[in-house]
Amino acid sequence: MYECRIAGTGRYVPEKVLTNTDLEKIVETSDEWIIKRTGIRERRIAAEDQSTSDLALEAARVALDRAGLAAEDLDAIILATLTPDTYCPAGACYVQNLLGATNACAFDLSAACTGFVYGITVGSSLVRTGVHKNVLVLGAETLSRFIDYTDRNTCILFGDGAGAAVLSRAEEGGDSRLLDHYLRSDGGGTDLIIMPGGGARRPSSHDTVDGKLHFLSMQGNDVFKFATKSMQTLIETAIERNGLSVDDLDLVVPHQVNSRIIDTVLRKVDIPEEKIYLNLQRYGNTSAASVPMALHEAVEEGRVQAGSLVLLVAFGAGLTWGYNLVRW
Ligand code: COA
Repeated sequence: MYECRIAGTGRYVPEKVLTNTDLEKIVETSDEWIIKRTGIRERRIAAEDQSTSDLALEAARVALDRAGLAAEDLDAIILATLTPDTYCPAGACYVQNLLGATNACAFDLSAACTGFVYGITVGSSLVRTGVHKNVLVLGAETLSRFIDYTDRNTCILFGDGAGAAVLSRAEEGGDSRLLDHYLRSDGGGTDLIIMPGGGARRPSSHDTVDGKLHFLSMQGNDVFKFATKSMQTLIETAIERNGLSVDDLDLVVPHQVNSRIIDTVLRKVDIPEEKIYLNLQRYGNTSAASVPMALHEAVEEGRVQAGSLVLLVAFGAGLTWGYNLVRW
């Protein structure tokens, strides 16, 4: 077995900004309500000619640059997304072509907002077992294509963006490595966050379009409870399984979902606010892109440095939840 580390991170967000004030003109809501209930102030929306692979491509280029690698050095591309360019072929194949990663296999991973954390776990397993040396893990979404902008319960929450991490074989004797992974799911909660139409269960038809079944729907209150509980459990499990205390963690990078959910968890697990990285006020919930986007910003701002102990925490549709514990 080898050790695996994160060699570089990247992030890309589209230029167009959709503010709470813009949303006030579309649905019955207010800037004040959205900030109070979610902490979100604005989100990014992909341009008409941008798809998920285009956003992922830009994040991938930054991550490769930070890792000091070329596209040809990649052995695998894993794209975590719930909004791929097409369901067949996989979105990762578009990225592979755009990037010119001629030596890489490419596949998508579907675990909704937990997708990037699942992707890091799968990618690092490929590196640790010696199957591959360099694996690109992407979380990218164009959620704006799957949001009903007449539904105020969902349209205020979500945005578009992409994040990336290059996983590489760790140097012998170095401390930088992925230390622990933990993944869970509960298929009993499939109805809580769902795009019901377009799959084999409800194939696309006039009825599914008229019934708006191709949009994301959500039972907000139940999801709130699940999110709070799973995030708390994940942090407590990471601490317990690795013989840590809260003080040992330098930074927690949670799924950027809702500041009320995060504040509730902070109080329960007694973590100081400065140990949590938050950018949800600028981007909203970008599903699989949220953790890698936040991680990249934390790295670029110097909040993650050599030797830092970083916990990536995510939860989402499925239901799914998980963490990665990383020594930087
Ligand atoms: N603007 C103004 N009012 C709104 C609104 C909006 N955008 N959305 C809902 N409301 C209204 C509701 O209709 C309801 O009105 P009523 O009392 O007259 O029926 C009232 O606000 C309270 O609704 P409720 O759903 O109880 O609000 P909430 O405090 O639970 O906040 C969410 C709603 C969606 C912000 C919250 O449930 C949430 O964040 N859930 C988690 C969602 C999530 O993170 N999903 C992704 C997980 S990966």
